[in-house]
Amino acid sequence: MLVRELTFDGFRNLHPGRWTPSEGVNILYGDNAQGKTNLLEACWLFTGGRSFRGARDSEMVTFDRDAAALGLRFYAGGREQEAAIAIRQRRQVSLNGVTLPSATKLAGHFCGVVFSPAHLSLIKDGPEGRRRFVDSAYCQLKPGYVGALTQYQQALTQRNAFLRQCRESDVFGTAQEEMLEVWDHSLAAAGTRLTIAREHYVRRLQPLAAEIYSGLSGGREQLSLAWDTPMVTDGVAPADIARQWLAILQSARRADRAVGHTTAGPHREDMRIEIDTLPVRTYGSQGQQRSAVLALKLAEATLLQEVTGETPVAFLDDVMSELDTSRQDYILNHIDGWQVFITCCEPSTALKNTAARVFHIKQGVISE
Ligand SMILES: Nc1ncnc2c1ncn2[C@@H]1O[C@H](COP(=O)(O)OP(=O)(O)OP(=O)(O)O)[C@@H](O)[C@H]1O
Ligand SMILES: [Mg+2]
Repeated sequence: MLVRELTFDGFRNLHPGRWTPSEGVNILYGDNAQGKTNLLEACWLFTGGRSFRGARDSEMVTFDRDAAALGLRFYAGGREQEAAIAIRQRRQVSLNGVTLPSATKLAGHFCGVVFSPAHLSLIKDGPEGRRRFVDSAYCQLKPGYVGALTQYQQALTQRNAFLRQCRESDVFGTAQEEMLEVWDHSLAAAGTRLTIAREHYVRRLQPLAAEIYSGLSGGREQLSLAWDTPMVTDGVAPADIARQWLAILQSARRADRAVGHTTAGPHREDMRIEIDTLPVRTYGSQGQQRSAVLALKLAEATLLQEVTGETPVAFLDDVMSELDTSRQDYILNHIDGWQVFITCCEPSTALKNTAARVFHIKQGVISE
């Protein structure tokens, strides 16, 4: 996977133009607020994901403009390809001249992994971000997983709407009981697909992340990951997992009716992240937390590479700060051979020693 050229017009503070990176390590440096992260964000949108800063589409259009146009020429699947994204009220996306029904359909065509300081929330915040990480990483491996997520979300929304309705009307008889039974079955069926996929993904990610973390810490510390689900999944058939979810949903019914929404289910699962058996969220230092997120991200890329045979593009936004020289060196060795975009204010010695192409960004203008 290689970015050949990015074109941009009306995107954030970037001055309309084009940018041609090298096939190896690209360093983008400049003062704060000059457009470094904006440039990565523009490339990242072609993975089909949302902005990694959680921005709404309208926020990405340059303040005095009413639309943004992005173009990407890239190499993937053994051929040269191109994609375009226009942001107006909604995104319009095309791939190799064919209009796609939605931006998420780009997933699997152009692949990347991104690390940004905002991703520290993966450790620091609640389980939602960790579920999103696993779900979107798995979507890049198996684009069809988007369908399972949508199905689950729909079933959950419907069950919640029904519970709210029962609570407001204060009516709950046999008819409502039967209706809830129907929603429980569809939620358990859809949820089973999520639990299986998430657990499978984390199991495969675990040894890769552990190895990378061990490298980052000079072999001194051990990272471990596990998918935290109330399900017993080892050697268990999907139908049995569905039965377990159903039992949990059924036993939570009384509580669910009282609060008017679904209190148990795969939307409560979490990923356990520990260093030397201690939860990194509670006990990890700043550097350890940053290294743990980085290990997750690099492991995600490595797994993507193993499964698809394509090396994803790595976007590392402000990754080097707070990491000591040996950790920086390890990262640069690990990503050797990948196309990488690294942003920083001032390139460190470790970065300067790589055979990288160095770009400077000032007020949205890129120069070499
Ligand atoms: N829609 C927009 N239109 C115009 N400018 C915008 C828009 N959105 C953000 N900006 C500007 O882009 C600048 C921030 O760019 P960016 O986040 O890429 O900075 P950066 O170079 O990564 O800085 P840092 O080193 O602090 O991370 C801000 O000055 C912000 O005002
Ligand atoms: Mg930035």
